[in-house]
Amino acid sequence: MTDFDLHGQHVAITGASRGIGLAIARACAAAGATVSGLSRAGTSEPGIDALSCDVSDAASIARAFATARERHGPITMLVNNAGIAASAPLGRTSDELWQQIIATNLTGTFLCSRAVIGEMRAKGFGRIVNMASIAGLYGAPYIAAYCASKHGVIGLTRALAAEFAGSGLSINAICPGYTETDMMQQAVDQIVGHTGASAEEARAQLAAMNPSGRIIEVATVVRGAMEFLTGDRNGEELVLA
Ligand SMILES: NC(=O)c1ccc[n+]([C@@H]2O[C@H](COP(=O)([O-])OP(=O)(O)OC[C@H]3O[C@@H](n4cnc5c(N)ncnc54)[C@H](OP(=O)(O)O)[C@@H]3O)[C@@H](O)[C@H]2O)c1
Repeated sequence: MTDFDLHGQHVAITGASRGIGLAIARACAAAGATVSGLSRAGTSEPGIDALSCDVSDAASIARAFATARERHGPITMLVNNAGIAASAPLGRTSDELWQQIIATNLTGTFLCSRAVIGEMRAKGFGRIVNMASIAGLYGAPYIAAYCASKHGVIGLTRALAAEFAGSGLSINAICPGYTETDMMQQAVDQIVGHTGASAEEARAQLAAMNPSGRIIEVATVVRGAMEFLTGDRNGEELVLA
């Protein structure tokens, strides 16, 4: 993806240790950005400065963003990508599971956005891309907590886009369907474990839940993120499903 130019930008990406987040981090580095990759377990690689951060913990976020700024200057772009998923019927959705998913997917997105908004406003420029999901737009069985968290991310994106419209900031969301990562593999394993279906059958079931009938490639999601980072659209949801 060499058709994007992010020279001069400092991009912070949460959940950059694997999957979609790591692929976005690599694309940003290839486009010339300085990249801070935040995750609980990430290790640095050329072009990506990995910082330890748990987005469900406000103090951890404050420390990681302070270190990122000390090393590389103000953050001009943020990709809120860190997320977790788990499925359970409502009656077996424990308080802990609910809180963990909301804290990571929704409160983490709020806290990280609030952490960078001051420096973006001061500069009169900023980009925030939130990784939501089609589960942020539609309901589906057995994922009440995940679905609620991602609907929250969409609401948060719309509210911030309205609040900062016209100030040089743009805030958008991406809504992928099932995408080829570890998270999707977990869903495959869970279907196999619960139903006795083969892995291939489980993958076919997940693909059928995407409107395209296909599993989405990580590269497709990366392109969407790069378009938001380099463009000036605001308050939009890009559905890639
Ligand atoms: N794959 C899909 O089918 C799909 C579909 C729609 C939306 N999405 C969304 O896309 C995003 C990325 O998903 P993925 O498929 O790439 O997942 P993944 O392969 O499981 O990677 C998740 C990333 O989030 C990080 N993370 C999880 N909890 C964290 C925490 N508390 N603090 C900091 N980082 C944390 C993980 O790093 P550490 O474990 O090292 O912290 C990892 O880097 C998520 O928001 C997910 O909901 C995925």
